[in-house]
Amino acid sequence: MRTVLVTGSSSGFGLLTVVELAKRGWRVVASMRNLDRRGPLDAALASSGAAQNVDVVQLDVTDAASIARGVEETLTICGGFLDAVVHNAGVAAGGAFEDIPDAELRRVMETNFFGVMALTKALLPTFRKQRAGRIVVVSSEAAFAGMPGNSIYCASKWAVEGWAESLAYDVEQFGIKVLLVEPGPYVTDIWQASPRFAPSGSVYRRWSEFVFRQGDLHVAQKGRDPQEVAEKIANVIEAARPSFRNPVHRLAHMAHFVRGKMPSAWLRKFVETYLGLSRVRL
Ligand SMILES: NC(=O)c1ccc[n+]([C@@H]2O[C@H](COP(=O)([O-])OP(=O)(O)OC[C@H]3O[C@@H](n4cnc5c(N)ncnc54)[C@H](OP(=O)(O)O)[C@@H]3O)[C@@H](O)[C@H]2O)c1
Repeated sequence: MRTVLVTGSSSGFGLLTVVELAKRGWRVVASMRNLDRRGPLDAALASSGAAQNVDVVQLDVTDAASIARGVEETLTICGGFLDAVVHNAGVAAGGAFEDIPDAELRRVMETNFFGVMALTKALLPTFRKQRAGRIVVVSSEAAFAGMPGNSIYCASKWAVEGWAESLAYDVEQFGIKVLLVEPGPYVTDIWQASPRFAPSGSVYRRWSEFVFRQGDLHVAQKGRDPQEVAEKIANVIEAARPSFRNPVHRLAHMAHFVRGKMPSAWLRKFVETYLGLSRVRL
């Protein structure tokens, strides 16, 4: 059986990817930082008929000891051979940059960037020894262009893409592929789970609250079914000749297309007009 480790499997894309891959016959190690949150995955697996293909392990991507334990358990479950890892775990924090506490800036980078690197480092010896492996990173259209009120999230996804594109050079010679999946807006828990910062007394407060409202409206109007992303991740893992970049959602394809082609000032004007930001100039 082909084997895969997925991070952040308690909800959203991670949960759906576990179920999708299990239904396609993969042996899936579904990892999550808090096993008390496994209920929704267990319920989805029970109705999928593929629960026998899944093991659940604890793995917090920001905790070195948890990564070491999670990788050891994964390799035991998989009989020492792992075909792929899906780096899906991710967090966000919204607000004007000046209002976001330093601890939050670090939490986002620790999860979306350092966490991906740490888990990859723990798995590379196995992938190298096998002379095979796929490292799939769930990035975002946020890696294509800056977004208002989203600076640290964009920074984390830009960082992880630069790292991934560079890592591909190192590891290709060992038969290891590094692949990005870059979703546009999808309706998952991330929007509610992410803290937003617009403290009273902040000069940005009115602007930030407007940006949050317009952002929510954008997701409500344009957000799509996250199952599309789970299927894309599974397709990328299974493809004979996968592309390095894999945008998902019409808006992610558009953002991908204009990246580097449209001057930044035009892009900013377009986004400001789309969100109506001129109405809340401070
Ligand atoms: N939704 C979108 O529109 C969208 C678009 C582009 C990219 N993405 C990316 O897609 C990925 C999945 O997000 P989602 O939308 O499915 O949101 P989600 O439902 O909130 O899922 C995020 C998952 O990451 C887990 N997680 C957070 N910190 C972790 C840590 N330190 N260690 C291990 N797991 C951790 C969460 O676990 P807990 O349950 O314990 O919190 C949760 O399972 C993220 O990388 C996100 O940046 C999302």
